[in-house]
Amino acid sequence: MKLLVTGGAGFIGSAVVRLAVARGHQVVNLDALTYAANLANVAPVADSPLYAFQQADIRDLAALDACFAAHQPDIVMHLAAESHVDRSIDGPAEFIDTNITGTFNMLEAARTYWMAQGRPQGFRFHHISTDEVFGSLPSDPSVKFTEATAYDPRSPYSASKAASDHLVRAWHESYGLPVVLSNCSNNYGPYHFPEKLIPVVILNALAGKPLPIYGDGSNVRDWLYVEDHADALLLVVSQGQLGRSYNIGGENERTNLQLVETICAILDQLRPRETGAYADLITFVTDRPGHDARYAIDPSRIRTELGWRPSVSVEEGLERTVHWYLENEDWWHPLLARQGVGQRLGTT
Ligand SMILES: NC(=O)c1ccc[n+]([C@@H]2O[C@H](COP(=O)([O-])OP(=O)(O)OC[C@H]3O[C@@H](n4cnc5c(N)ncnc54)[C@H](O)[C@@H]3O)[C@@H](O)[C@H]2O)c1
Repeated sequence: MKLLVTGGAGFIGSAVVRLAVARGHQVVNLDALTYAANLANVAPVADSPLYAFQQADIRDLAALDACFAAHQPDIVMHLAAESHVDRSIDGPAEFIDTNITGTFNMLEAARTYWMAQGRPQGFRFHHISTDEVFGSLPSDPSVKFTEATAYDPRSPYSASKAASDHLVRAWHESYGLPVVLSNCSNNYGPYHFPEKLIPVVILNALAGKPLPIYGDGSNVRDWLYVEDHADALLLVVSQGQLGRSYNIGGENERTNLQLVETICAILDQLRPRETGAYADLITFVTDRPGHDARYAIDPSRIRTELGWRPSVSVEEGLERTVHWYLENEDWWHPLLARQGVGQRLGTT
């Protein structure tokens, strides 16, 4: 199978690229290399004969047409996006251009290519999206996002992802493009860019800096280890039903405060501080505007139709993640030196 993966130099895309190559698939990684990208994320597969890199911007339709013609993929996995909620509130324009217009371009380039190829049976366009399109849930633990939950995005990021989901469904209904979609909860794990909550907490803790938590830390997220997400995505793209979406979650709901306290406890074990516990560094900061209270995924469809389950609990996944950051300072140290990184806290 030859996969064209967009955003393959980012956090989740690179996990997909590494796993797909490890499973023997040919992969073309199409990425514009924005601030969020890092080719070190794909260094483990960069020398593989199965791997190719194409620097291109999804806002440039001609570049996408050329990429499809040159590489002739069997499958498209579309992850490239602007992904940071706080940045979307500060400057929404790039989110509209990349997430909406960029997805439109990807659909058009894929449609042109698919028709020119004689509409091959096995072709798939997999659009990777977020549970944030569904808005915010009440605290009642029995209420979760299903694939039938009405869209209710509340940030420029989630609104742009919601718009892109609608475009993908429309291209299936209007043109018959063979699409599948997935909407996933918060990911964490190795190679996570240090502006998101978990790497910010780990790296601030190691530097003895305050561990910032929005509001009172009661926002609930459903955490999924990134390698479990990559595994689910390869399953959805190969076995998912056309035109259907799959919610992917970790079944690991935690408040932000619980999550940070767990990371602190792991660090207390692995790298004890000389002057007290890491949790002493926790600091509550002014909340983000419109901060969604709770996200939780009902993963019944992917479990029953495709037999998928996450392989690790959040405690196991966090322990692996903390180990990874302790062992990979060469990866994160240069990123912290970049201006502004680590100053923007996010939960996604
Ligand atoms: N991180 C999460 O917890 C999460 C959860 C659910 C869904 N998602 C979705 O998964 C996808 C990947 O998320 P991520 O966290 O890996 O993001 P990321 O920000 O780490 O990576 C995004 C990648 O896309 C590339 N990119 C951005 N704009 C581009 C453009 N115009 N043209 C080409 N490439 C471009 C970047 O260079 C980067 O490599 C996104 O679509 C996101 O909405 C993320």
